[in-house]
Amino acid sequence: MLTRAYQHSLNGSQLSAGRPVLEVDQVSLRFGGVKALDDVSFTVTSGHVHAVIGPNGAGKSSLLNCISGLYHPQQGQVVLHTADAPAPDGTPGQEHRHRLTRLSPHRIARLGVARSFQNIELFSHLTVLENLMLGRHIHMRHSVLASMLWFGPARRQEIAHRQLVEEVIDLLELQAHRGKPVGSLAYGIQKRVELGRALCLQPALLLLDEPMAGMNAEEKEDMARYVLDVHELAGVSVVLIEHDMNVVMDISHRVSVLDFGKLIADGTPEEVKADPAVIEAYLGAEDEDTDVREAVARQGEER
Ligand SMILES: Nc1ncnc2c1ncn2[C@@H]1O[C@H](COP(=O)(O)OP(=O)(O)OP(=O)(O)O)[C@@H](O)[C@H]1O
Ligand SMILES: [Mg+2]
Repeated sequence: MLTRAYQHSLNGSQLSAGRPVLEVDQVSLRFGGVKALDDVSFTVTSGHVHAVIGPNGAGKSSLLNCISGLYHPQQGQVVLHTADAPAPDGTPGQEHRHRLTRLSPHRIARLGVARSFQNIELFSHLTVLENLMLGRHIHMRHSVLASMLWFGPARRQEIAHRQLVEEVIDLLELQAHRGKPVGSLAYGIQKRVELGRALCLQPALLLLDEPMAGMNAEEKEDMARYVLDVHELAGVSVVLIEHDMNVVMDISHRVSVLDFGKLIADGTPEEVKADPAVIEAYLGAEDEDTDVREAVARQGEER
């Protein structure tokens, strides 16, 4: 399926496809009186694009924060599965379970969980290439400073990292932008750079929080294609948060739906689309939007 030979695997997981890679088990998270997550359980399968959808405030980002260690749920646990490299005869390597729920974000990143944020978190004055190189820092034995000074082992390390970063640039078609400061780029391209930075970690699991938010239909379609490329060409397992149900239906293997912190559906895109609870949650949200639009229109008339 590869269109060109990649020297580096961007997929950091050694799990066989079809094995569970992430288990979210009865997770509850409260902020004062608000139940951001209420007894949420589902499993992400290795090799899948797993979408998490739901209306505003449903708990999607909170869920991602519980996986990546920024929030610690009061109840339940999140377990990441990893595996050792397969034996030369192809026998799958031994599997390991990691309880993420009490680990720091740094430890979780070292286990191979990479993420992008709902609001772009890049160094806007640095170039695309520099931002992506910083995405490699977790794998670097020599400091960024030593790499810059360009000495012996640090230099060899820099070259290997640079090759991997160039492959990410190639996969995400960022060649034309590589030397430009990120802050000077169009919003849609910045979102792609963020995807690239997460990918530079060679993730065992990639968490994307609304990578298509704020985009027009054409940009969304482009981004969906890059996410698919990441999955198909690089073989990375992805948890994809998105607001717009239609966007995820084409590219996901499985969809979990949150509403007011509760998991209201979990299944194939077809199953979820036909689920009355999901239709209700989304129609309800649309009604609200309509109310807001009508209120704004009325205000305009009154003025
Ligand atoms: N750090 C926090 N402190 C207090 N309340 C929070 C915090 N983070 C999230 N919440 C609350 O938890 C609920 C879920 O928020 P969350 O951001 O997870 O929703 P979301 O599904 O990502 O929404 P959106 O589609 O708008 O991004 C909301 O009621 C929100 O106000
Ligand atoms: Mg969110």
